Amino acid sequence: MRKSRIGILTGGGDCAGLNSAIKWVVKTSLDDRLQRERDTSYEIIGIRDGWKGLVAADPSRGDAQEWLMPLDQNVVRTWDRLGGTMLGTSRTNPYSPKNDQSRKVLGNIQGLGLDAIVAIGGEDTLGVASKLSQEGVSVVAIPKTIDKDLWGTDYALGFETALNVITEEIDRLRTTAGSHKRIFVVETMGRTAGWLALEGGESAGAFIILIPEYDFSVQKINDLVLEGRRQGARYEIIVVAEGAKPSGGGEFIRDQGEDSFGHKILGGIGDYLATEISGATKLETRSLVLSHLQRGGAPCAYDRRMGRYFGSLRSISSWPVISARWSATATAGLALSPLRISWAGSAWSTWPPSMIPSATTAAAPS
Ligand code: F6P
Repeated sequence: MRKSRIGILTGGGDCAGLNSAIKWVVKTSLDDRLQRERDTSYEIIGIRDGWKGLVAADPSRGDAQEWLMPLDQNVVRTWDRLGGTMLGTSRTNPYSPKNDQSRKVLGNIQGLGLDAIVAIGGEDTLGVASKLSQEGVSVVAIPKTIDKDLWGTDYALGFETALNVITEEIDRLRTTAGSHKRIFVVETMGRTAGWLALEGGESAGAFIILIPEYDFSVQKINDLVLEGRRQGARYEIIVVAEGAKPSGGGEFIRDQGEDSFGHKILGGIGDYLATEISGATKLETRSLVLSHLQRGGAPCAYDRRMGRYFGSLRSISSWPVISARWSATATAGLALSPLRISWAGSAWSTWPPSMIPSATTAAAPS
């Protein structure tokens, strides 16, 4: 029987569903019957803290083991119901132009004897995976991001759980908003993608939803609010994505510092809007930033299941198949997943789907 050593890591912002994917990669790799079918026995090594772990785990140094976590069915048994990532994560970019550590990563992959890497991440983590793939590393990519903005995918782990958080929090806000006849502006994450605000706002029945893909008019919002009040509304919930912009204005940036992928931290649009609305309408207005609550907590049923499907290697015949397809498409910057390859092959011709939400800025009064 052949032997194969696989490294698995999670990179970028954590979210719900990561541990489920890890569990199912481990379970379906180490399943006795499947190993016999594939004529390959697998060893799965968890890499701690994303790409940072692969930069640091130099086998010629004594502390390499600190960055590695051998995984088997017993270790991962309960992981599918746990939030965050049991492997840890970081926003480390080994290809950062300011500090290129990609040679270290390539050397460590070879030194550790890893035949393939399973990378669970969003555009940053999988961008690194794509570059490694171009350098000859076999990579399997599993998409995760609450922003749901990963090119070539239509679902990424963590999104549905984040929607549930938004919905639940807005349900809570309604009772206090209604009691006080207040307007609440709820700021969601999502960077420059509006999916989280749009679908979170839709699920929660928000009065107005503002997304980065369409600049908004403050005047129009004030008009809609006042019109709603004339028709008897007691309160309003307005959902705004952190990357949304007023017409003629720019993004609101909370922290000018950049991470190693060049991202600034967005934030502040909710406060701005609340101040503008209360100033113009004279109605009591409060803002709330949902922030990292959207990434925290146990995964919802859908993310547990999607982690299972993304992580399950049952439906594909062998690792080399994935690696070959990944390599073939990596140059186009695609993020692949076992699910897509095995179940959605026929959809390739229609990809990429439009990444711009088509819905709108105003819904019915709450
Ligand atoms: O990409 C996921 C995300 O949660 C974005 O929606 C948000 O802008 C960013 O990460 C926040 O990053 P950090 O966890 O570094 O504050």
